[in-house]
Amino acid sequence: MQAHLYSQRSVAAKTRTMRKLALLFVGAVALAACSSVPGVGTVKSWVGMGEETPAAQAKPVPQAVPSAAAQPVDFATSTEIHPDIWPLTPPRPRDPAVEAEVSKLLSQMTLEEKIGQMMQPDIKAITPDDVTRYHLGAILNGGSTGPHGDLRAPAQDWLAAADTYYDASMNVAPGRPAIPVMWGIDAVHGNTHIIGATIFPHNIGLGAMRDPDLIRRIGEITAQEIRVTGQDWTFAPTIAVVRDDRWGRTYEGFSEDPQLVAVDAAAMVEGLQGKPGTPDFLKNGHVLASIKHYIGDGGTWQGVNAGNAIYSEPALRDLFAPPYEAAIKAGAENVMASYSGWRGTKMHVQKGLVTDVLKDRLGFDGFVVSDYQGIGFVPGCTVDNCPQAANAGIDMFMTADNWKGLYGNLVNQASSGVIPMSRIDDAVSRILRVKILSGMMTEGKPSARPYAGHYELLGSPEHRAVARQAVRESMVLLKNDGGLLPLSPRSHVLVAGDGADNMTKQTGGWTITWQGTGTTRADFPHGTTIYEGIKATVEAAGGTVTLSEDGSFKDRPDVAIVVFGEDPYAEGSGDISTLEYQPGDKRDLRLLQRLQAQGVPVVAVFLSGRPLYVTPEINASNASIAAWLPGSEGEGVSDLLFSNPDGSVAYDFRGKL
Ligand code: BGC
Ligand code: BGC
Repeated sequence: MQAHLYSQRSVAAKTRTMRKLALLFVGAVALAACSSVPGVGTVKSWVGMGEETPAAQAKPVPQAVPSAAAQPVDFATSTEIHPDIWPLTPPRPRDPAVEAEVSKLLSQMTLEEKIGQMMQPDIKAITPDDVTRYHLGAILNGGSTGPHGDLRAPAQDWLAAADTYYDASMNVAPGRPAIPVMWGIDAVHGNTHIIGATIFPHNIGLGAMRDPDLIRRIGEITAQEIRVTGQDWTFAPTIAVVRDDRWGRTYEGFSEDPQLVAVDAAAMVEGLQGKPGTPDFLKNGHVLASIKHYIGDGGTWQGVNAGNAIYSEPALRDLFAPPYEAAIKAGAENVMASYSGWRGTKMHVQKGLVTDVLKDRLGFDGFVVSDYQGIGFVPGCTVDNCPQAANAGIDMFMTADNWKGLYGNLVNQASSGVIPMSRIDDAVSRILRVKILSGMMTEGKPSARPYAGHYELLGSPEHRAVARQAVRESMVLLKNDGGLLPLSPRSHVLVAGDGADNMTKQTGGWTITWQGTGTTRADFPHGTTIYEGIKATVEAAGGTVTLSEDGSFKDRPDVAIVVFGEDPYAEGSGDISTLEYQPGDKRDLRLLQRLQAQGVPVVAVFLSGRPLYVTPEINASNASIAAWLPGSEGEGVSDLLFSNPDGSVAYDFRGKL
């Protein structure tokens, strides 16, 4: 049985690896072909990567793309968006009572109050008094920020800070509209900025489960744990369709397959927000989700973070739109614009994609938030000045330093008509609609809302049991020579590798800190490392466990479990140029080979945020497992590695690459 599973999986793994390498190769050839099309010369403009293709630099920039009316569009070269080729979905019907409230509020607001609603500064750059004075619509904690500057502030402080900012937003002059401020947080695999929260596998592992119901449950739990600490909104899920695993955000996406991402995206949005049309939608323990990063973030040339997607418009649509369609149908009310661009133009100013496609074709009725300082990456813009982005359809600006400058510029640009007042009113209406739907207008302080202050829910046994199940379901068996797995828990087990007893490594980026680096075991009051999980299982059955990071031993073990893989990273710092694991210095391979040479059967457990070329490591092991970035519940790994004490199978593998 196990041997059969092994032979199937190992073939799949090899095919996949070869296909990946082939893809890279094909991509390079395709680009070379494009840049040599005579008389087209669009490569420089839409590729925006002149340094990488010197030949392309010499090509003239096109003067105009033929209009659709005049002649058929040449999608191979066109840099324009043609909304009519995108799927048309009507928006969900609006609730007249909500619309009446939106209009009433809007009619009472001054321009300054409206612009304030469109702002979302990092709490590191504001005081509660700023929330009052500038009528700020939203705030966030960036990946490196916590209440009073403390990333490791206790959960109580997060909730107290939420109340403080809320009070500041409600502290208005008599007769002025009081609109609660919203707080967004990167709860991308659990409410993982908060010490003690349940930490789920990163999305790449959830994608491997093929279990949307479990993803929905994970969304529900994540939302509850966010509500415990008083935030309203998570910048998740990332619904990137990842086409080049060299991208440093590969692990934030569910899959490379648009249909699979679509299913998982819808499930996660439903879990986080509740079902649209039900009384619990966006409230009663649910939060606002953000589907990100619109659009094509996982399709940039060579997987460069925040880079440039060069697909034709139909390919952009077919590869990257299905998750947006599915998530919008599932009730998504917030979209985050991508730092990346399409054919040379940054998404933050792509009116065709943000307004004409997303809002007018895909039926998106919520609001679009810019990415963190994202307008600063637009040529011709700065972090505090980019009317083009508002005009393209950005409704709220996620910002940090210089937010006052941005606020002032938006006020001036709206007064002078650079940004039409109708655009401002549309943006503010979209934001107000979500606030009304979420119940926050009437629910009172964050600490008075359901689940708030229930600190016992953070990392509760019930929540962690779900995370542990997700770990089990996400692990992919790549090889199992001679049916080595499942191991008997009565064995003498050597546990080796620098990932074995390492919470930092198993939890990955976006965990307490932005990069996920710099954490210690003490930062994880709940949960178990993979070694701790193995130890608990084996010792309970009467076996013995020795932890030895470098694999050295005195008493010969029955089996060695070697846990190794990538160190944490987030965003661009995770970009790599080759998919080869440990190019140059094959430390982990040597460890595996050393154990094999000593005649010890080896189980390799590989921690990674993406598929990598590990054929030598697989060859140097008797059994191999892709464990992704499993999060806080290391016991989920041992669940699969060991049989019951009587030899019967406890859990079987179900994860798929
Ligand atoms: C990332 C977003 C994230 C935001 C806030 C940006 O750098 O691209 O995914 O939500 O920061 O931390
Ligand atoms: C991240 C933020 C982070 C900041 C640190 C941004 O790119 O998205 O979350 O706090 O950089 O400088």
